[in-house]
Amino acid sequence: MYIRNIRLNGYRNLKKQTIELDTGINLFIGDNGQGKTNTLEAIHLLATLRSFRNTNIRDIICHDDQEAEIYGSVISRDVPLELRILITQEGRRLWMGQRSVSVVSDYLGSLKVVAFTPDDLDMVKGGPSIRRKFMDRVVFLFKPEHLKTVRDFNTALKARNRLLKSKQVVDRQVVDSFSQTLSIHGAKVTRARKDIIERILEPASKILSHLDDDQEQLGLCFKPGWAANESVSADCLLDILRSGLDQDIRRYKTTRGPQLDDFEILLDNESARRFASQGQQRSCALALLLAIIGQAVEEDGQRPVILLDDVSSELDSKRRKQLFEQVIGLGNQVLVTTTDKDLVKDLSSKTRRKFIVSNGRVEAS
Ligand SMILES: Nc1ncnc2c1ncn2[C@@H]1O[C@H](COP(=O)(O)OP(=O)(O)OP(=O)(O)O)[C@@H](O)[C@H]1O
Ligand SMILES: [Mg+2]
Repeated sequence: MYIRNIRLNGYRNLKKQTIELDTGINLFIGDNGQGKTNTLEAIHLLATLRSFRNTNIRDIICHDDQEAEIYGSVISRDVPLELRILITQEGRRLWMGQRSVSVVSDYLGSLKVVAFTPDDLDMVKGGPSIRRKFMDRVVFLFKPEHLKTVRDFNTALKARNRLLKSKQVVDRQVVDSFSQTLSIHGAKVTRARKDIIERILEPASKILSHLDDDQEQLGLCFKPGWAANESVSADCLLDILRSGLDQDIRRYKTTRGPQLDDFEILLDNESARRFASQGQQRSCALALLLAIIGQAVEEDGQRPVILLDDVSSELDSKRRKQLFEQVIGLGNQVLVTTTDKDLVKDLSSKTRRKFIVSNGRVEAS
């Protein structure tokens, strides 16, 4: 799967324009603040309906405009397909070809992308929310419907917490009805996260052994935010929520559940967060990210488009070389942004199309 071209209108600082992409490596070069990340963000949004930044979707509308439009001509499962998103202050509208799409699940999955940003490299040492987001992004790549499950879970969790926070006497029956909804969606969320962590361990270990010479053994240990049983069942989560209700009332919040899921990365059975060097930690993060691309291809034979935003600036030259060798070896369409002249030099023989990004204009050079 690949993107033939993308047309933008009213997207952040980017000018109204069409960007024609190559099926191989596309390199976006420019100084800070010119629109490189915005370009990748627009593509990520077109594919997943979400930004990879923590942003309100309306923020992407250019300050001088009322609405933003992203239009992509893609080859999806060997078939040409036109995708279009219109974002206004009122919300979002979608089209596939001429057809307006109201059911999001019909749309998702037609274009698959995997984005790496410098934030991803904090996966080992950062807080658990980074790892939860990572797990959800990966699951979403395989099962687009996961997004809705997470949303339904979050809605139930918020509602339950709101009740627990209200200082009046808590209506236990009402809390229980939210516990039921929460446990149905929540168990699915935890189960999907657990499965994905188990699934990427082996490919990630292999990749890590190519990235790092140290040859330490990678381990991944999933840590559910509740004492999940073997089958990670909704009944089990419901029992836990019910038995923990008194504690939750005292603490004014839901103290156990998928909102506390996490996983630990181990090197030779030691916590990578506590003991690994920064370089090793980044290698671990890269290995996990690369592993999911391989898994995505295995899952449905579709090669996701890879978006690498400024990742190289955080890596030493050896790791950078390894990263690009691995990524290029996959044969997917790749979009790389950089401010770094050295990287441009390193990749020059492999780059199929080069763009200069300046003041919101993305021009092939
Ligand atoms: N809604 C918006 N309307 C207009 N401009 C915006 C909007 N949102 C962000 N911008 C501007 O877009 C510009 C480019 O941002 P972007 O993150 O793409 O830069 P970049 O080329 O990736 O830079 P860096 O190399 O520093 O990462 C920023 O200067 C920002 O102020
Ligand atoms: Mg940037």
